[in-house]
Amino acid sequence: MLTLLPLLACTDGDEPDRTTGDSAADSGIADTADTADTGALADLEPCGFTPMTDLDAAPDVVEVNLTASNFAWDPGTGIPLTGGMAFNEAVPGPVLEAKLGDRVRVHFVNDTDIDMSIHWHGLRVTPEMDGIQQMMGDPVSPGETFEYEYTIVDGGFYWFHTHMNTATTIEAGLYAPIVLHVPDEVAPDCDLPVVLDDVLLDEDTWQIAPPDTAMMKLMGRLGNVLMANGRSGRRVAWTKGQTTLLRLVNSSNARYWDLVLEGHTMTVVGTDGGFLAEPYAVDHLVMAPGERYMVVVEARGEAGESYRLMNRRVQLHEEDGDMIEVDPMGNGENPVMSFVYGVGEVVGAGWRQPAPDVPAWGAAVENLGHHWVLEEDMMGGTVTIDGAAWPDVPMVDVPMDVDATFEVENKSEMHHPFHIHGNRFQVVDVGGEAVAEGQGWKDTFDIPPRTTVRIVSALDNPGEWMYHCHILEHADGGMAGMMTVMEE
Ligand code: C2O
Ligand code: CU
Ligand code: CU
Repeated sequence: MLTLLPLLACTDGDEPDRTTGDSAADSGIADTADTADTGALADLEPCGFTPMTDLDAAPDVVEVNLTASNFAWDPGTGIPLTGGMAFNEAVPGPVLEAKLGDRVRVHFVNDTDIDMSIHWHGLRVTPEMDGIQQMMGDPVSPGETFEYEYTIVDGGFYWFHTHMNTATTIEAGLYAPIVLHVPDEVAPDCDLPVVLDDVLLDEDTWQIAPPDTAMMKLMGRLGNVLMANGRSGRRVAWTKGQTTLLRLVNSSNARYWDLVLEGHTMTVVGTDGGFLAEPYAVDHLVMAPGERYMVVVEARGEAGESYRLMNRRVQLHEEDGDMIEVDPMGNGENPVMSFVYGVGEVVGAGWRQPAPDVPAWGAAVENLGHHWVLEEDMMGGTVTIDGAAWPDVPMVDVPMDVDATFEVENKSEMHHPFHIHGNRFQVVDVGGEAVAEGQGWKDTFDIPPRTTVRIVSALDNPGEWMYHCHILEHADGGMAGMMTVMEE
């Protein structure tokens, strides 16, 4: 598994021939940057991130400019995507960085030619700022602007994305990370947000393949290029002894990722809604679309060594079900990015777990908020919640400030990542089995085929909130509804 870094560049013949359309699945396009470059370490990136420029000098105000535009970006193939879109001409968009209690102001400009609204995935903002009211009523049209403004009440790792025609616009590149610091956080040596995405390219033109085949609407769109922060083949510099906080988010339309980091242990220290009470070590990490995990890695390699973050295939359908699912990445493991050791060694900052903000519910509460039923009709080609498709799914009404259990029953033979806006939840049990590992806040959770998942919430953020499957083809196809958290 361990590969030695070639100190001089060489081409080992693995590189896909893009002119003849050699399949990405066979060769793993993510390999190319390892071999295609000429200057040994020239393409190494520092471990860290540059946030969006804060235009307001006040310490508790973060004010940024955010512009969405048509933008041709290179997913690592060397061929810019003419159908690409980006925030501030970067994919992912630049990191929105703030801290608990900050007031955030975003001057959003829609410089594309389609209607848009921005959703702050996982943040407990007000309904007017969540992007859904706009989506349903008054979107930000081409050439228009909108001021998003909210207070940060959660810490950890989140992301934002457009919330209209998501299957097309998120595939095109409109997504970005949100890093929210908490007061007792000790900065790690490296704080690295990594957005995991796949994109489906036509293998003749290496442009974004056309959307919306009937099959994709049901199965979800799986890509043939795996990207970390908008590009395959990234190589990040590490130094022995350093501590890295990887902030991982899955922005794929439909792909579940199953990550393995060669030669290193990953310790999960946080989930969707902040830090955990009890970190736990994993040898692989499964992530559904929309989910986040914060993971700490101690760098223990030696100078010149290179370790890859690998992705294993996750099948979305029951293995013994009726659907035959083909993954354009093939069935094996594929490289996502590499960590490359430079010379020397440092005494790292180590890791100290910030105080969690998670009540130890650990069990369902008696009050049943709602029982959702997810279904798929293969013949009719529809995905539904409670027997209907958006906008006809019946409204769910629940009182504010009452602890409630919700049940999500998946009657289909496919996994669905269920996402709820505006409030935060804990997963209690999956198919009747208690969740063993560190309880944390979640806003997106996998509902396995033919399984019921129970979640609890304190429902402390009133308003009308959308919930939906985060397989974007399903969300756009109607697997979405609204819930009202009612004030007295
Ligand atoms: Cu990440 Cu309603 O979305
Ligand atoms: Cu969301
Ligand atoms: Cu779904």
